[in-house]
Amino acid sequence: MTPLERANQYQNEHRIGKEEKPVFHVTPPVGWMNDPNGFSVYRGKIHLFYQYHPYSEVWGPMHWGHCVSDDFIDWKELPAVLAPDQEYDAAGCFSGSAVETADGHALVYTGVKDTKREDGTKETLQQQCLAIGDGLCYNKVKENPVISGKQLPDGFSRGDFRDPKIWKEGERYYLVAGSRNEQGNGQVVLFTSENLTDWRYVSVLADNQGRYGTMWECPDFFRMGDKHILLVSPMDMQADGKEFHNGNQSIAVIGTYDRKNFRLEYEQVVPLDYGTDFYATQTLQTEEGRRIMIAWMQSWDMLIKPAGQKWNGMMTVPRELELRDGVLYQNPVRELEKYRTAPVLCGNREISGTCVIPGVEGRVLDLTLEILGGDFERFSIQFAKDETHFTQVCYQRSSGKIEYDRTYCGMTRDVVCRRDMLIKKPEKTLKLRLILDVFSAELFINDGAQAFSSIYFTPPSAKDIIFTCDGTALVNIEKYGIALN
Ligand code: FRU
Repeated sequence: MTPLERANQYQNEHRIGKEEKPVFHVTPPVGWMNDPNGFSVYRGKIHLFYQYHPYSEVWGPMHWGHCVSDDFIDWKELPAVLAPDQEYDAAGCFSGSAVETADGHALVYTGVKDTKREDGTKETLQQQCLAIGDGLCYNKVKENPVISGKQLPDGFSRGDFRDPKIWKEGERYYLVAGSRNEQGNGQVVLFTSENLTDWRYVSVLADNQGRYGTMWECPDFFRMGDKHILLVSPMDMQADGKEFHNGNQSIAVIGTYDRKNFRLEYEQVVPLDYGTDFYATQTLQTEEGRRIMIAWMQSWDMLIKPAGQKWNGMMTVPRELELRDGVLYQNPVRELEKYRTAPVLCGNREISGTCVIPGVEGRVLDLTLEILGGDFERFSIQFAKDETHFTQVCYQRSSGKIEYDRTYCGMTRDVVCRRDMLIKKPEKTLKLRLILDVFSAELFINDGAQAFSSIYFTPPSAKDIIFTCDGTALVNIEKYGIALN
């Protein structure tokens, strides 16, 4: 049996039941998942691959898991497609991306290989590899690795060179990958090819400016209107006010693409998400031109899950990106609305003290709260609540702050439980859209001008939602359940 057959047999024999999982967020069939990979449209279907280790709930030799969807919400699990089974990827098939070609669905990924230096010390090599398939089965090409570390300029790291994101422009393919320069600083390198197997180094597209973390992982680069956007996930960020937090974080560099020198000129650097669990973003463009982003909803710095749970890791809801007046908006894909059930609409309602609203409860839902006005300082929503548990979002009006707190969600590890964010673009009213899916909360502020994602493993029976206001607030509430057929 090949390593891939073995992984798929394991997946089939140990699949975790749906009732233990979120409803519409992608999770691994069994075992461990991290980054989204190969997020792409192939023959009209949406494909999502991911970093996968079926055999345990912790990271291990990386495989690529696979699922497919017609609408970003209802996903069908497929067999895993890549396993470490070649000399050049024996230590893992790391993150990468996919593109539709005339010859099939092309996956580019990082093959990781451990070697020994002459002095006996271990050296890791990361090289870019290609596999072509039909949407179900993929074959690694004989030319692999198609980009070796030797093609990088002298001094660039051969051990940190990973996560290729490929796209086509005219007749050419381009690819960006994460890398480190001579000083060890994170950067993104650009390559080009006409045929997917012969690649030429072009430039350093962007670097961490000595400021945004160390190694840069999982880059993605695309045009939006007259700007270009680089999404990247730096390791070891340093907190800066409420904008950036310590540790791994995904950011967007918005700027102008200097096509002569193949460099991105920075205009703005913003976090993609202010929450506790969000990393390794990847996007695709739909046939109608929408740019959709997905990310791993977990954090390398706090890999929480309940003891005994045989799966670990989930994706965010896919989000549509839009750049308007210099703000990168993100909102759940509109397809989510097709799955709304049981509406509860409650307009111009006064809330003072603590209250529940009939029908506003549950762990799988889409809730929008618009605060129209009133006389108050603090307004909070507690959800996933029962007698002992709750998770809370609180709006503090005078400082324009949103405070998140999952201290009482049932967690038994001392990880980050509270995090604040400042509302950057206050509007006349405050709109909070909260998407819950059993073990996660994704909050979209003012039509997606800012987002906040977090996971928690509160017992699913904790379903209450309560609103608390220290004065009187006038609100509109719109709540839907979400159900797949
Ligand atoms: C990011 C990352 C990638 C790498 C993968 C390995 O989360 O570290 O850089 O390819 O995970 O699983």
